[in-house]
Amino acid sequence: MPLDEDKYPVESDRRRFVKGVVGGAALAGVTTASAAAVNTATAPTGAGGGTTTFYAVENTDGPAPRGMPQIPVELDKEGYLKGAWPEYEEGADAAVTEDYEGTGVDYSSAWFQYCGVQTYSGVYPEADQDNYFRYSDSGYDWHSDKGGDKIHIDDFQELGDPWREWNTSFGTKANGKPAAGTWRSQDLAPAETMPIQVIRSENVQELAKEDEWIDASTAEGCVAWLNKCTHFCCVPGFKTIAGSANFGAADKIYCQCHQSVYDPFSIVQKSFVALPRPEKEG
Ligand code: FES
Repeated sequence: MPLDEDKYPVESDRRRFVKGVVGGAALAGVTTASAAAVNTATAPTGAGGGTTTFYAVENTDGPAPRGMPQIPVELDKEGYLKGAWPEYEEGADAAVTEDYEGTGVDYSSAWFQYCGVQTYSGVYPEADQDNYFRYSDSGYDWHSDKGGDKIHIDDFQELGDPWREWNTSFGTKANGKPAAGTWRSQDLAPAETMPIQVIRSENVQELAKEDEWIDASTAEGCVAWLNKCTHFCCVPGFKTIAGSANFGAADKIYCQCHQSVYDPFSIVQKSFVALPRPEKEG
């Protein structure tokens, strides 16, 4: 985006904000658009923080204070996976979908405002992002050559072992096939990447039969979450490290930094104090 490069110093927050939030669609009127976007986020103490109820993959062990926030999964018409983003009304403190899919749950962008993510361009409610999940450059062997590509539901069947059979050398056999990806991070600096994981599992399909929220927030057995440990913000993994078995986490999400454990097959409702998004100007 050469227009942005010309207008703002290379390392300024403002430039990164404009690049990420306003995006290509607004480039024709970049001066006006950037001013409007910045104004929505310039409350002196930041915006969109405060006590927030959210759904999480449950924290079951270790020092993490709570689970990691779930991202409702949608499939587009072609079968690509997206993380639903709540509805944004101009001037609002957060993007919020009230009564998500008739579940009674208010889904808010504030769910993701912790561990520094509250400063990322992609978490700003109006950020110009397409919400597709894309493969990480590193992750599981089965998608190691797909970095940056959109994640498709058929990939879980057709790349590597089929999802009902995918295994590691440890833990319960064939209880889910994971992918590592990114979300709302297109064209942003690596430091602003929002890491996610998706698991496609029959366990999720079973849970969805019993629970209205899980049914509405998963698709074809896929559950997703923002993969930032709520302890000190490391990036954990589901079945990434054999040593996780030593901490009772062979079938769970394990954070090797300080041994926190999360259960992707236990979706729970929790509360936390979301951190405000900082002013981006200057
Ligand atoms: S357990 Fe400390 S950062 Fe994850």
